[in-house]
Amino acid sequence: MSNFSELQTLQHPLFEQYQLQVQIKRDDLIDPIISGNKWRKLKYNLKHVKENGYKGIISFGGAYSNHIHALAFACNQHDLHALGIIRGEAHYAENFTLSKARKWGMTLHFVDRQTYRERNCEKYLQQLSQQFPDYFIIPEGGSNVLALRGVAEICHELNIQTQYDTLITPVGSAGTISGLISGDNNQHNILGIAVLKQTDYLTEEVSALLNDKHNQPLNNWQIFNNYHDGGYAKFSPESLTKLQAFSAVTGVPFEPIYSGKMILALLDLINIGYFQPHHKIVLLHTGGLQGLGGLIEQNKLKASEWPLPLEQQVR
Ligand SMILES: Cc1ncc(COP(=O)(O)O)c(C=O)c1O
Repeated sequence: MSNFSELQTLQHPLFEQYQLQVQIKRDDLIDPIISGNKWRKLKYNLKHVKENGYKGIISFGGAYSNHIHALAFACNQHDLHALGIIRGEAHYAENFTLSKARKWGMTLHFVDRQTYRERNCEKYLQQLSQQFPDYFIIPEGGSNVLALRGVAEICHELNIQTQYDTLITPVGSAGTISGLISGDNNQHNILGIAVLKQTDYLTEEVSALLNDKHNQPLNNWQIFNNYHDGGYAKFSPESLTKLQAFSAVTGVPFEPIYSGKMILALLDLINIGYFQPHHKIVLLHTGGLQGLGGLIEQNKLKASEWPLPLEQQVR
């Protein structure tokens, strides 16, 4: 078990009141930089790239992308070149996230929103492959079939570490929840908390990623799409206050874009009586704490108001 990520039991008055066991799988602690679901998703992608002799990796992301940040560092560590296709203008190259990606050797290529929308189109991807024949292309968020294999290992670890009823994860591009669904194989309930607005596409995305090779349909999962708090990277001052209080009580750092929305959804679901007494819940901490640096830089968050020191959170 020594290389499993840690599983911690959380203490909170609400959990006592509703007689719930809540544990958290601290994937955020796996590595200071390639943290959380990024580590899981990149693991078999990097193996594939090394085994097939590619020179580098191309991937896509926004100006504060956790995936781009982790990928740049991972490529640096594996002597691979990284090319990031970034939505937005060139001045973002100096920001909290991308300045580090550049420091780790990633080449940044900025595109406008219209071009960025092509990121999954066959024609655009073929052009990229022709232009960079020795590069492996990984989709936005790192969510591809190889990523699912890495994420599925979380379920294997949890089956050895604990007994539980429900596993909860934030959902963005759906690679993480798809990996959990596939690794869990209908043993537990899997709940996804969508962090974006207008997420009707997610169910299709999960089916596409699972590419149902399984004999039995995998139907033990559900995505809640009413906890986005206004949309991607948006959050209200009340949400921030609740999240800060939760971090202070539990001693676990969260950020408000992904793991924070999962926590707020959890608190709401408990308060509306969604879980029966004695229900055992596991939360997946997907990392992303570097995002705090970006939020502070954009004045969306005050470093002084965050309960744990920023250096400890973004390392
Ligand atoms: C910190 C963090 N948590 C959760 C997610 C959501 O994961 P996925 O995109 O696989 O749904 C992301 C985005 O990839 C993320 O950066």
